[in-house]
Amino acid sequence: MSVRRLTDQQPNSFEFSPENLDWATKQLTKYPAGRQASAVIPLLWRAQEQHDYWLPKPAIEKVADMLGMPYIRALEVATFYTMFNLAPVGKYFIQMCGTTPCMLRGSNDLKAVLEQRIGDQQHVTPDGKFSWLEVECLGACCNAPMVQINNDYYEDLTPVSFSKLLDDLDAGRPVIKGSQTGRKTSEPEFGKLTALTSFYPNVPLSNDNGAAAPAVAQTASNTDRPEMHVADAPVLTKRVSEEPISDMHKPELLCTARSGAADDLKLIWGVGPKLEIMLHEMGIFHFDQIAAWTQMNLLWVDQNLKSFKGRALRDGWIEQSKKLATGWRPSNSDGDKPV
Ligand code: FES
Repeated sequence: MSVRRLTDQQPNSFEFSPENLDWATKQLTKYPAGRQASAVIPLLWRAQEQHDYWLPKPAIEKVADMLGMPYIRALEVATFYTMFNLAPVGKYFIQMCGTTPCMLRGSNDLKAVLEQRIGDQQHVTPDGKFSWLEVECLGACCNAPMVQINNDYYEDLTPVSFSKLLDDLDAGRPVIKGSQTGRKTSEPEFGKLTALTSFYPNVPLSNDNGAAAPAVAQTASNTDRPEMHVADAPVLTKRVSEEPISDMHKPELLCTARSGAADDLKLIWGVGPKLEIMLHEMGIFHFDQIAAWTQMNLLWVDQNLKSFKGRALRDGWIEQSKKLATGWRPSNSDGDKPV
């Protein structure tokens, strides 16, 4: 860790505001008698927030006095954690993550923007608006590269969007927090899956024996792992997990039967008149529709079968429908099971 020292320019004193003093006093009651030093980080943090986001020496000493700590102990905490600024920062204090995921996704380009626009790290622009610091991972690696400005995250940045963000802050225009590409949380970029695109990602399933199906997402080595496609997958008959199946696995559904004539879905073993009506209401009319489903489509339909939930998996609708779609029909009036 680099050496962190207090700045030479220090105020003569520091006092908590009445509201913050009240808050700080309440913090002390959270800890057992004699353990008030445990509140050192929250109190230092509150002092920093009150003092334009940096901690002067009198504030550190004030907190130490309140907690009955030697000054050096509070100073050790303040100088150890980079969350505490030991010198004045800009009105917009930018913490740029330079750790590996952000670096691989372009944080060096953001750094170049900062250096060109603001100057060296910890330098405050003459108008007092900006200063910056390179920090370690801020925990938003999925949306790298990113920066934290004061208390907010700005993610999925490019040099262009980052420059615009700084322009907007400089001009006092409203800015969008979070992803700058409109991505929600950590969903796949551009709205489409780029990993685990083959069989049943992240959904623990079981086969007829109750044994877990091959867990694609949990195998140790991606390079050793043969890609699993739907055609290679075991026929699944039971779900282990109750995790909801996302609507992205919804199969193609129809408004009406093609040519106005639905297949007799009751030929599927286990489908009766009531269930057939429910399937029609969902937009399922034909054997070839069901035959074309993936296992994830089947799971999605199955979870939406209300009181018939579990039937589609249990009775292997895809395999049955594949056979029925070829024109095969049961030979006796009770109806042979297609498969
Ligand atoms: S590496 Fe940048 S947020 Fe984690």
